[in-house]
Amino acid sequence: MSQRHGEAGIPRPGTGGGAIVGANHVPSFAPVGTDLPEDLVELRDYQLVLEVFRSQSFKTELRDGTDAVRRDTVLRLNGPEHPRRRRSLNRVVQHQNARWFVDAFLVPALESELRKLDGMRGEAGEVSADLTSLIPDITIRLALAMIGLDVSGDSDVRELTDLAQAFREMAGVRWIVDPATKAAVLSRAVESKERFEQYFLPALSSRRESLAREGPESSPSRHWDFLTLVAAHSDGLAHELLGKHVDPSLEDSDMAIREAMTSYIIGAVDTTTLVITWCVDELSRWFESNPADTDRLSDPQFLYEAVVETLRLHPTNPATIRIAVEDTDLSDGTQIRMGQTVALLTGVASRDEAVFGPTAEKFLPGREVPHGILPYGLAFGSGVHMCYGLPLVLGSTGTDGSLVEILAALYRAGMRPDPGHPPELMAGTYKQQFATFPVIFAPGSMRRRHQTHSGPEH
Ligand code: HEM
Repeated sequence: MSQRHGEAGIPRPGTGGGAIVGANHVPSFAPVGTDLPEDLVELRDYQLVLEVFRSQSFKTELRDGTDAVRRDTVLRLNGPEHPRRRRSLNRVVQHQNARWFVDAFLVPALESELRKLDGMRGEAGEVSADLTSLIPDITIRLALAMIGLDVSGDSDVRELTDLAQAFREMAGVRWIVDPATKAAVLSRAVESKERFEQYFLPALSSRRESLAREGPESSPSRHWDFLTLVAAHSDGLAHELLGKHVDPSLEDSDMAIREAMTSYIIGAVDTTTLVITWCVDELSRWFESNPADTDRLSDPQFLYEAVVETLRLHPTNPATIRIAVEDTDLSDGTQIRMGQTVALLTGVASRDEAVFGPTAEKFLPGREVPHGILPYGLAFGSGVHMCYGLPLVLGSTGTDGSLVEILAALYRAGMRPDPGHPPELMAGTYKQQFATFPVIFAPGSMRRRHQTHSGPEH
C-alpha cells in the first residue's frame, strides 16, 4: 500500500493507509517551517508504523536544533548505550516506585491546588481556573519529586514551573511555523537550562554526601529518584548500589541535567497536560450526547476508558521521526534507502479503520479493540523507545496511574468546561495543544479522593 509522488510538493490527502513517498515532498502534517528533508517518507498505516517502531533498521532522530539541551538523552540514544541508560532510569518508574510518587507527591499536590481554588470561591460559590496552567502547577511537583529536587518555597516552585514551560516549548520546537519564534524558544531553553543547573547541582552534591554517609546498606528499601541514581553513579559505590545496571555516562553531571529536563519535566508535565485537556474536551462533547454517563465521573474504569480513547485520538506530536540505518523494504513493498527519513503519523495510524473498525475516528469510551492491539493505539510508540513513563501515567491496571488520578480529582471537585469561554488551540504550531482551557469548579466542597488503594510506604 505505498504511493509515489512524482508531483513536487503535492501530498496525498491525509486519510490513512499506506506510505507517501516522494521527491520534493512537503510533509502533509506540517507543510511549512519544519526542516524535514524532501525525500521524506510518510507512514500512516497502523501495521507499517508499528513495523518501523519495532525494526532495528531505524534509529531515532531529533535534528531539531535542541542539541544543547537534549544531546545524548535516552530518546536520542541508539545502539548499546540505549538499553544501558534505559535500564538505569527504569529504577525511578518501576511499578511500586511509580505508585509511590503518585501517592506521596501527585495526590498532595492535587489536593493543595484544589484547596487553594476552594479558598478563592466567589459569591456564587463557583471558582474559575485554566487547565493549561493548573495541570502544570500540579504535575511539576511530581516531576521534581521524580528528579529528587526537594523544593519547598513558593517562589522556587514558581521559577521551576517557568523553566518547565521553556523546556516544554522547546520539546515542540520542530512544529512551530515561524523561524523567529523557533529561535526565541531555543534560546529561552538554553537560558533556562543554566537556571535549572542552579537547583540541580547543589541538590546533587547533597545527595552524594548522604549516599556516602549511608553507604550501600540502605539501598534495598530506597525509593529511587533520579538524583539518587546519578549520585550513586558518581560516589564510587556504583556497583554496590546499582548491581549490574551501571551507566557510566550518568557520571557526567551536564548529561544528567539534560536527562532530568527532557525525560522527567517534559514527560511528566507537558504530555500529561496535553492528554488531560484533550480528555476533558472529548468528555464534554461525549456528555452532550450521553448525559447518563455523567454519573460515571467518579468511576475510575470509565475515566480509564476515556483516557485511552483520548490517547489514541490525540498524539502528543504530529509525527514521530526515524532514520533508516540500512536499505529496507517494508512489508507493503515500500523501499526505504539508508539515511532516508521516515515520519510515523501515529495519530493517523491510531485511527486506522483496518484495525479499529469503521468507528475508528470516533471517541468511544469502552471501545472493543482486536486481540493484541493496545487500546491507546500508538500513543506511547512501540519497540525499544516505547514511553518510559507508562507505569506512572497508566499504573499497573490503567485505573491506578497519574492520568486517572488527576481526572478523578478534578471531576470530584465539580470541574466542568467554562461554557462562556471555550478552549482555544495554540496558534502557530502544528502540535495540537490548547493555549487556554477555562474551567469552572461548581459550588460545593472539594472532597478528598477515595482511598481506592493503599497509601505510600514511608
Ligand atoms: C500521557 C503521557 C505520555 C505520552 C502520551 C507519552 C508519549 C511518548 C511517546 C510517543 C514516546 C516515544 C517517542 C519515540 O519513540 O520517538 C515516549 C517516550 C518517552 N517518554 Fe513518554 N509519554 C507520556 C508520559 C511520559 C512521562 C510521565 C514520562 C516520565 C516520567 C515520559 C518519559 C518518556 C521518555 C524518557 C521517553 C524516551 C524513552 C526511550 O527513548 O527509551 N513520558 N513517550
